[in-house]
Amino acid sequence: MSADSSAEVRHFLDLDRLDAGTLRQILDLGSACKRDGAFVEEKPLAGRQLAMIFEKPSTRTRVSFEVGMRQLGGQAVILEQQGSQLGRGETVADTARVLCRYVDVIMLRTTREENLLELAENSTVPVINGLTNRTHPCQLMADVMTFEEHLGPIKDRRVAWCGDGNNMATSWIHAAVRFEFELRVATPEELQPPQAVLDWAAAHGGRIVLGNDVEAAVDGADCVVTDVWTSMGDDETESFKQRRHNLLAGYRVDERVMRIANDDAIFMHCLPAHRGEEVAAEVIDGPRSVVWDEAENRLHAQKGILLWCLT
Ligand code: CP
Ligand code: NVA
Repeated sequence: MSADSSAEVRHFLDLDRLDAGTLRQILDLGSACKRDGAFVEEKPLAGRQLAMIFEKPSTRTRVSFEVGMRQLGGQAVILEQQGSQLGRGETVADTARVLCRYVDVIMLRTTREENLLELAENSTVPVINGLTNRTHPCQLMADVMTFEEHLGPIKDRRVAWCGDGNNMATSWIHAAVRFEFELRVATPEELQPPQAVLDWAAAHGGRIVLGNDVEAAVDGADCVVTDVWTSMGDDETESFKQRRHNLLAGYRVDERVMRIANDDAIFMHCLPAHRGEEVAAEVIDGPRSVVWDEAENRLHAQKGILLWCLT
């Protein structure tokens, strides 16, 4: 925890910053925690402390990290932006310099990716990305785990993303490259994922098929994924939401869409969901939905991340 202790700090910032072998190693650790209850007796994180900073709301991330840390023998402390000096203008860099004198690992959920990078640059302890405006890598670790539990290895399989090209879409693109599966993305033209991530995927041999046609995307898919039409931090005005609704209405995942996918295709959503908007109730509450397993796997996958960062 001292300021000069970091030879090589294991940050978990994004899937594009870690190699495929490391990500697989983390997933294996998480799966072992789930399958065998590995580390239940050993408490490998005994005496270790996690600080979680939230600039945006959370249910799953907050509870799964805190419970995971406790199950591994450690403890967690939570800072909300409002209620800490961050909310009064103390810099992220100074916050990092202070926190890493108290704790062994820091998780940040932030409105600006730059804050995550500033935190990592100034921290001598590992920093974990708990969602930014650009990505949500912890969720993707849980999602890949969930896919593989239901359908076997994800390598060379086909996943269809329908809806907004948001932070989850970017992390799915990262995952498609790292875990070597095909990702078909159906979004309205103006809500496509950022060009930079598409360029990165192309440069790394990613099989990303971009389009505006839901039917083409889900045809032959093993998994259909969607997410909210308005993300945290987006404009929350009624006019913005109405415009989004108009743009995305044709991208709703309903029974008709699921029928075009493979017979054994699963449905995923990181949650929280809006039934009747991005997904029909009959799909998310139906037999092909694995969303509750996905939510549970946040706990197991993040235990893998914490163990990789700290041991
Ligand atoms: N999926 C997800 O990150 O959920 P929370 O916003 O509840 O943490
Ligand atoms: N795209 C969503 C994901 C929530 C977990 C958001 O950023 O609000």
